Amino acid sequence: MDLVVGGGVVGLSIAWRLARSGRPVTLVDPAPASGASHAAAGMLAPVSEVSYTEEPLLRLGVASLARWPSFAAELAADAGLSADAGPDPRGGLGADGGLLAAARAGLDLRADGTLDVAFGADDLAALGELAAFMEKLGLPVERLTGRECRRLEPMLAPSVRGGLLARTDAWVDPRRVTAALLAALERRGVPVVRARVSELLREGDRVTGVRLEPATGPREIAAERVVLAAGAWSGGLADVPVRPVKGQIMRLRAAQPLLGRCVRGTVHGTPVYLVPRGDGELVVGATQEELGFDTRVTAGGLYELLRDARELVPGVTELEVADVVAGLRPGTPDNLPIVGPSGTPGLTLATGHHRGGVLLAPLTAAIVQGEEADLATFCSPARFRDIS
Ligand code: GLY
Repeated sequence: MDLVVGGGVVGLSIAWRLARSGRPVTLVDPAPASGASHAAAGMLAPVSEVSYTEEPLLRLGVASLARWPSFAAELAADAGLSADAGPDPRGGLGADGGLLAAARAGLDLRADGTLDVAFGADDLAALGELAAFMEKLGLPVERLTGRECRRLEPMLAPSVRGGLLARTDAWVDPRRVTAALLAALERRGVPVVRARVSELLREGDRVTGVRLEPATGPREIAAERVVLAAGAWSGGLADVPVRPVKGQIMRLRAAQPLLGRCVRGTVHGTPVYLVPRGDGELVVGATQEELGFDTRVTAGGLYELLRDARELVPGVTELEVADVVAGLRPGTPDNLPIVGPSGTPGLTLATGHHRGGVLLAPLTAAIVQGEEADLATFCSPARFRDIS
């Protein structure tokens, strides 16, 4: 039996894919779907999320984005999402009949691209360099003038001088995804143990299961393989170089959608993004703070988000505040996830996804199942073995 520790989007996806492939699997988490995945904006945006210094991360992201349509369609089927959304008039992720339509409706999966905008000459030059790098890699990006940006997104500030449109970037509502994953696990009969793991059980040099914090239910669970997918908390259970990177985010509510696609930019040197949901919500994110395990939502964090978002889209200050939340991204020394056999028999790692857990979940689940050997080398735990 495989035991997945961690019920965020990564752990849930792994457990679901293992169950689909016929493996017996159990998942343990004290409060599934409540950590970083609950705070995440859900951008499936490998092109606009990555800087040109991070080609391996870009390759992982592009490969995982390619998996998202079938992942979402199969999830829609397994979770019993309704297919009554009808045919989807949009292009982007490709057509797959009713299931992809159900995924689009049920998971708020959209593929209308990301618009990365620039204000000053420096921003514009940086975007130009990024565009040249993307073009060299054969990725589809379009350079736009300020006027062309505003034609696409009329609510953009007049001061926007130019932009970069990544048409293939997509996004999804992570809260709907984790809810669907939990439903799919339940429908497949996968046990979800709501308890905290206090330590990994070991026999000799082998991991053989987990010990749970005292509570009702089992105190220990034995497993042939433990998959550690506990995000920022992974370092408390195994020797893995993951640290919490706090992100504060807010959800604003609009009567009319303010934007048709994801918009991002750098304001006063700080990146900010706005992600529109199908129901009119607009997600504004996110801070990046190195404060340990601190999930307080602060006045300063929210002020900075709103101040910067207003520079991009002045109309945001008119919107109602629906939700504010902070989550902890699992950061790694090289910004790449840590996925694969740990070097300790019986222990596989699936953590360190930093800003890309939602995007990278389908690929991570595939790697844990032994697929994608070439891409797996980028995120192999072996790269840290000499320092851990
Ligand atoms: N993926 C965006 C963030 O972590 O803020």
